[in-house]
Amino acid sequence: MSLNAKNRSASRRKSAPASPDPAAAVRFIRRHTRLQPVLAMVLGSSFREVEAVCDVDAEIPFNRVPGLPATGVEGHAGRLLVGRVGPTPVLMLSGRCHFYEGHTLADVTFPVRVAAALGVETLLLTNAAGGINPRFRPGDFMILRDHINLMGVNPLCGCGGPLPRFVDLSEAYDPELQRRLRTAARQAGARGHAGVYLAVSGPSYETPAEIRAFARLGADAVGMSTVPETIVARQCGLRVAGLSCITNLAAGRGNTAISHEEVLEAGRRAARQAGELIRHFAATFPSG
Ligand code: HPA
Repeated sequence: MSLNAKNRSASRRKSAPASPDPAAAVRFIRRHTRLQPVLAMVLGSSFREVEAVCDVDAEIPFNRVPGLPATGVEGHAGRLLVGRVGPTPVLMLSGRCHFYEGHTLADVTFPVRVAAALGVETLLLTNAAGGINPRFRPGDFMILRDHINLMGVNPLCGCGGPLPRFVDLSEAYDPELQRRLRTAARQAGARGHAGVYLAVSGPSYETPAEIRAFARLGADAVGMSTVPETIVARQCGLRVAGLSCITNLAAGRGNTAISHEEVLEAGRRAARQAGELIRHFAATFPSG
C-alpha cells in the first residue's frame, strides 16, 4: 500500500461515522402531514402509553423514515407520530435506539436532528431511571435540572459540519420548561422532584458500589439514555426538557434485584399519570 493510501485509510478509521442527512427524512415526513409541530418528544420505555393522548395525523414506523434506525428493545415501539396533544401540534418519537444495542451515537441522536430540521423548537426527552435519591419511590417522576455524562462517549466527537462543536451545557435543561413540568406534574397528581440524571452506557445495571459513588457525585437517578440526545439538541439550538419515570430503586437501594420486566411494569403502572403530565405540559405551548 502506498503511503498516501495508508494515510487515507488511517484518517477514515479515526473519523466518527457521519450523521445521515435529516433533509430526506423531513421531506418524507412532510409528505405524510401538513401539521407543523412546535414540540417534539422522545418517549422512552415507560412513556410509550403517552401516545394515547395524541390525536394522530400521521403514523410512520421508524424503519420507513430515511435514516432512522429501527429499535430493537422490548418496550420501545419505534414509530413516529405527528398529531395534536390538545391544541398543540407535536412530533412524538415513540421508542428510541440505544447505544447499548450497538448503535452509533450518530444513529441514537439522528431523530433529534430530524426534529430540529423539521422546525421544532422544543424537545422533551423522557426515560426510565433508577432512583438514587432516598426520597424517590418507584412511580415518581424526576424533572431533569442537570445531567452527568458517564457513558464514556460524546455524540459530538468527530462530528463535523457547520454547527458548533464546543457546545455550552451550563443550562442544558431550560429552567422555564422545568417550571412548566413541575406545574404539570402537580396538575396530574404525580409526585415530581427536580434532580440530576446520571447516564451510563448499560446494558447491565449498576453495582451497589457504583450507585454509592454516583450519589456522592450528586446524582439523583441513573439511566442509559437521554444525555446524547440533550447534547445534540443543544448543538441544534433546541430548548430541552427532561423527564424520568423512576421505575425502580437503583442497585443496593432496595432489597430486590433489578429486572427489565420490573422496569417495564412500573412504567405501565405510571402510564396514566405520565399521559396526564404530558397533556398538561403540551397545553403550555402555542396551538400553531
Ligand atoms: N439503572 C440504569 N438504567 C435504568 C434503571 C437503573 O436502575 N432503571 C431504569 N433504567
